[in-house]
Amino acid sequence: MEDYILAAEELRKEALARLENVTDEKGLEEFYVAYLAKKGSIPGLMIHMKDVADKAAFGAAVNKARTEVTASYEEKKAALAEKALNAKLLSERIDITLPATPTKTGHVNPYRLIIDEVTDIFLQMGYEVCEGRDVETDKFNFELLNVPKDHPSRDMQDTFYFGDDYLLRTQTSAAQAHKMSEMAEKKPIRMIAPGKAYRRDDDDMTHSHQFAQIEGLVVDKGISIANLKATLELFAKKMFGQKREIRLRSSYFPFTEPSVEVDVSCFNCGGKGCAMCKGTGWIEILGAGMVNPRVLEACGYDPEVYSGFAFGVGVERVAMLRYGIDDIRRFYQNDFRFLKDYPVK
Ligand code: PHE
Repeated sequence: MEDYILAAEELRKEALARLENVTDEKGLEEFYVAYLAKKGSIPGLMIHMKDVADKAAFGAAVNKARTEVTASYEEKKAALAEKALNAKLLSERIDITLPATPTKTGHVNPYRLIIDEVTDIFLQMGYEVCEGRDVETDKFNFELLNVPKDHPSRDMQDTFYFGDDYLLRTQTSAAQAHKMSEMAEKKPIRMIAPGKAYRRDDDDMTHSHQFAQIEGLVVDKGISIANLKATLELFAKKMFGQKREIRLRSSYFPFTEPSVEVDVSCFNCGGKGCAMCKGTGWIEILGAGMVNPRVLEACGYDPEVYSGFAFGVGVERVAMLRYGIDDIRRFYQNDFRFLKDYPVK
């Protein structure tokens, strides 16, 4: 009878020895099934209870075997789990000293840098940005701007048409016609419209069928050409340097009266005369004028009450002067060797 107590003791020793040799989770699982599970050999000892005389001693021996083996089993289980985790951490370790693969990023086009700079200057003066749209109607691109269908100035602004009425805008001035006619209540306006314009042009070093302009428009009571001059002078100083001066030369645009070309004193030679300003000391940078009363009226503003000024800057021209770029086509070729040279602020 004592044999069963001994057998329990033997089984305990055997199980603990077997456990020593278990090295992985699969082995541990097999061990559990063999010794500790419901049908395993340790709980299986209990069927002998009925044959044993000293039931208390036998029960104690079985209990001891179960508790000790279970404790060792749990210990082993934890150790194996830790080992697995460590192995996983090791295999997934990242060497942070390795140099990263450089990602290639693009670069802001220099004409966009000029748009951003000009926009910043006018935002500081309280202007809002109204970009308008590239596809326009004849009405907004021409008619509301005092250019009826038979107007000779249309010859210089031939463009790409979609049917009779839709076209790619030839000037960002179309955005001022939108803004004025779409104001529900006719209130003062201070806006700029940066964006693309299109004209049928022979593409060469200084002409492109697609280019960028920035239109400016101010409409209010009592606006005079003095306001136009002061605004553009401030702009020229902020854009080209505090020492710059501007001069206005008389010109013609159908939508402004009077109209002017605005020159800025040469920022390369300071006005003495150099190759950049072709010896004149002045560089032409934009067209401007007082909004023609007919335009105000066509867009719903009473010209007896309101007056205004408008101006249009050629973006690529300013960028070419500022950065010494010789060919306008470079802006649209997306050649990274060219683009990367311009400083992003
Ligand atoms: N829209 C004119 C052009 O493209 C420029 C301009 C704008 C002139 C506003 C006067 C006022 O040539």
